[in-house]
Amino acid sequence: MSLKIEDTDRSKAPIGVFDSGIGGLTVVREIMRQMPNERIVYFGDTARVPYGSKSKETVTRYSRQIVRFLETHDVKTIVVACNTASAYALDELEKEIDIPMIGVVKPGAKAAAETTRNGKIGVIATEATIGSRIYNQYIEELNHGVTIWGKACPLFVPLVEEGLLQDPVTDEIAKRYLSELIDLDIDTLILGCTHYPLIRSTLGRVMGENVTLVNPAYETAIELREMLKAKGLLNEEEPGLGSNRYQFYVSDTTEKFIRFANSIIKYGILSAKQVNIEEY
Ligand code: DGL
Repeated sequence: MSLKIEDTDRSKAPIGVFDSGIGGLTVVREIMRQMPNERIVYFGDTARVPYGSKSKETVTRYSRQIVRFLETHDVKTIVVACNTASAYALDELEKEIDIPMIGVVKPGAKAAAETTRNGKIGVIATEATIGSRIYNQYIEELNHGVTIWGKACPLFVPLVEEGLLQDPVTDEIAKRYLSELIDLDIDTLILGCTHYPLIRSTLGRVMGENVTLVNPAYETAIELREMLKAKGLLNEEEPGLGSNRYQFYVSDTTEKFIRFANSIIKYGILSAKQVNIEEY
């Protein structure tokens, strides 16, 4: 029996990453830092963002189309970088495909369950992610003695997309959103939305130094690395000079995406392509 090339060399295949738009680049950034040998195919659903205010059915349908698109790129694994899609669609899609999938919620929940000392954890995220109570479910499975409070912070996404990362307006909104979590004396706060790590310094200042901020993007990259290693899929080989390791696709026009990507990923995104995702 002869082995096909693709069966023997899956470690060289790219990692597929998707999000509702640009926020998932915070996850891409962590993968690039922690696994510099890996190739990445990213899809941002910029035409249909936001997912955080949509229904489970819609987010699952959108995510399924993106998974089909990524499969055409022969990816070795799929990272659901969007918290909302991880909350709503991951369980179902995982059953439908053979490629290993990983979302951002479980790694974030695990880190929080291990971090808390006083058993009081806060989660901030989109309305959908908070409503799904998925962070609560995973944390409680890992650590029974904890109380978890969720708070939807929908204004943070447009503030980040407007570039107001260090701004009095963002400060003011953060104080309003977070005051009840401060009063509850939480010691751990999960940044449960792709955009929130980009206002980490504001969130840290408002919460105070006794609160540990958990970044699911960072935790996901750690878990992804472990998963790839365990499955023999980690690319141990350095890419050749000048090789095009990163490909970016979006469902709307590319200009805003490229501008935003260049502001958070220091590699410099040379290009992105627009895709009609409804065809998948
Ligand atoms: N990417 C989404 C998330 O992490 C935030 C933006 C949206 O609502 O689509 O939940």
